[in-house]
Amino acid sequence: MLKTHSCGELRQEHGGQTVTLAGWVNRRRDMGGVLFFDLRDRNGKTQVVVNSGRSQAAFDVVSEVHREYVLQVTGEVSQRPEGQENPDLATGAIELLADEVVILNPAKTPPFLIDRDEVVDESLRLKYRYLDLRRTRLQRNLTIRHKAVKFIRDFLDERDFLEIETPILFKSTPEGARDYLVPSRVHPGKFYALPQSPQQLKQLLMVAGYERYFQIARCFRDEDLRADRQPEFTQLDMEMSFVERDDVLDLIEELMIGMVKTASIVPLAYEKFPRLSYAEAVARYGTDRPDVRFGLELVEISDLVADSAFRVFAANVAAGNPVKAICVPGCGGYSRKQLSDLESLAKEAGAKGLAWLAIHPETEEIRGPIVKFFSVKQLIGITERMEAKPGDLILISSDTELVVREVLHTLRMEMAKRLGLPKENKLAFMWVIDFPLFEETLEEGHYAPSHHMFTAPKREHIPLLDTDPHAVLSEQYDLVCNGFEVAGGSIRIWERPLQRKIMELIGFSMEEAMAQFGHLLEAFEYGAPPHGGIAPGIDRLVALMAGEPNIREVMAFPKTAQATDLMSDSPSEVAQKQLDELHIAVVGTPQVESG
Ligand code: AMO
Ligand code: AMP
Repeated sequence: MLKTHSCGELRQEHGGQTVTLAGWVNRRRDMGGVLFFDLRDRNGKTQVVVNSGRSQAAFDVVSEVHREYVLQVTGEVSQRPEGQENPDLATGAIELLADEVVILNPAKTPPFLIDRDEVVDESLRLKYRYLDLRRTRLQRNLTIRHKAVKFIRDFLDERDFLEIETPILFKSTPEGARDYLVPSRVHPGKFYALPQSPQQLKQLLMVAGYERYFQIARCFRDEDLRADRQPEFTQLDMEMSFVERDDVLDLIEELMIGMVKTASIVPLAYEKFPRLSYAEAVARYGTDRPDVRFGLELVEISDLVADSAFRVFAANVAAGNPVKAICVPGCGGYSRKQLSDLESLAKEAGAKGLAWLAIHPETEEIRGPIVKFFSVKQLIGITERMEAKPGDLILISSDTELVVREVLHTLRMEMAKRLGLPKENKLAFMWVIDFPLFEETLEEGHYAPSHHMFTAPKREHIPLLDTDPHAVLSEQYDLVCNGFEVAGGSIRIWERPLQRKIMELIGFSMEEAMAQFGHLLEAFEYGAPPHGGIAPGIDRLVALMAGEPNIREVMAFPKTAQATDLMSDSPSEVAQKQLDELHIAVVGTPQVESG
């Protein structure tokens, strides 16, 4: 080794020892005849003192060095003079008196400072990701990630799970996104698909009798990106045989609690994860991935406004649509401008308008554009139902159920942000269960699976598949934390006739099904055990545990929102020869926004 210790290791008890450190120059200070700098590596920083009186040679070398030079420093560990200890630094009790300094490698001036927590343009950070990764924030995040994954592996190993790798070059497994395709050179015109998840393969492993499988699996999905989505991401992919829903939920709950306690810098809000049915989640929060750390819940007031003179509400209720509202404490004094901004936000979310009632903090008078349409009794009815107090603002939406949910969910999240809610950052995990098997709207005239087509309907609901498929609830479960879906899974269909029936309902002919999943359907005829599984998203979990708003911050080399890698400049063109070998012709390249 070129060093005897790391830069984060030396303490008072090393005093008097001669040691060698190697690392990067963090910051140099010239005190006239004495040079100070911090030497930094992944483990920390150590202050080095270079005194020309002690070593002129070392002094001469260090006079030439700049930020990010790679140095090897040999010297004596010395207790810092009284009053000069740095309590913020783990090595703050000591300093290294340099005797010999070797420049292992000089460095160009970096495009941004490594040692300061200043805001740096993100595209610059991504272009120079290897420098960004030197900064404490990303080091901390990747360490959390490592600890989390190590905990997962140990936890599952102790519970008799086997980690098994599955292929990356495989066949399309629909999870609802577009596939990334890989052309075959050997088979002209044919393609592999990168897995959106190892879903089929893990089910095949259950047929194969492996009983308890997991994998830290890379998944690939070509979909619109946002803060919690990357084109390639990592799942803890799991599957178990002979289990029921609660076996999976209990195991994951124990795993999550242990992982958070081991790796997270954000604490748990509580240890027993609440369970909410899908119906209750969307009724109370307007979404199936609610942030339950604050109230502002949706309240239905349809019955109170059905007979009102406000035609929009009365007509919507008559047509079977809801009128729902949220009550925002302390915002009753909002200006017209503030309210019209909220209305614009509601319209972006699909609303036709946004009705509001504001209660004056002292006079308790109710103002708002729709007040004139309501009797005093109706207004009192609404404020009572909303549990509104003087000074509060009631935001009301009426449209189809789906639009109202989206609008009020959007407003709820916006108002929470404005009110600074939740006050404390804690991890509030919860389960959402009892999902409908199919989405509420048909896709191209067919039922669309709300999870994926291998999710089992509840046993007692199987007869409804023939009469009222939309009423069928499934064995799907999602784990949600602070408004993010952090895991999804289900008990699967393991009998072929049932699988066939579901495929028919979602508009798959048997021929199509055989072409795409023939291997799975056939396997189910060789004794598939009852099985189920789940896949927690590692990136989202780590981001939550690190208190980061974007999963990019917990990935070493993430992509931009346009799915590009700014560092390697990919995707990029390839040589004509490569295309020829793959029997691929590029026909026209539409302009795409870069970045
Ligand atoms: P699902 O599609 O719900 O289920 O994905 C499981 C979890 O993976 C994470 N996730 C993502 N994270 C980052 N970027 C993305 N683009 C992205 N997409 C999904 C989420 C999500 O909860 N095969 C099933 C699991 C199963 O049924 O066992 C599946 O993939 O945290
Ligand atoms: P109008 O009578 O159309 O001017 O509407 C009166 C108020 O009701 C305005 O604040 C509108 O934004 C609001 N509004 C209109 N349509 C809806 C709706 N579908 N849901 C909630 N509020 C609405």
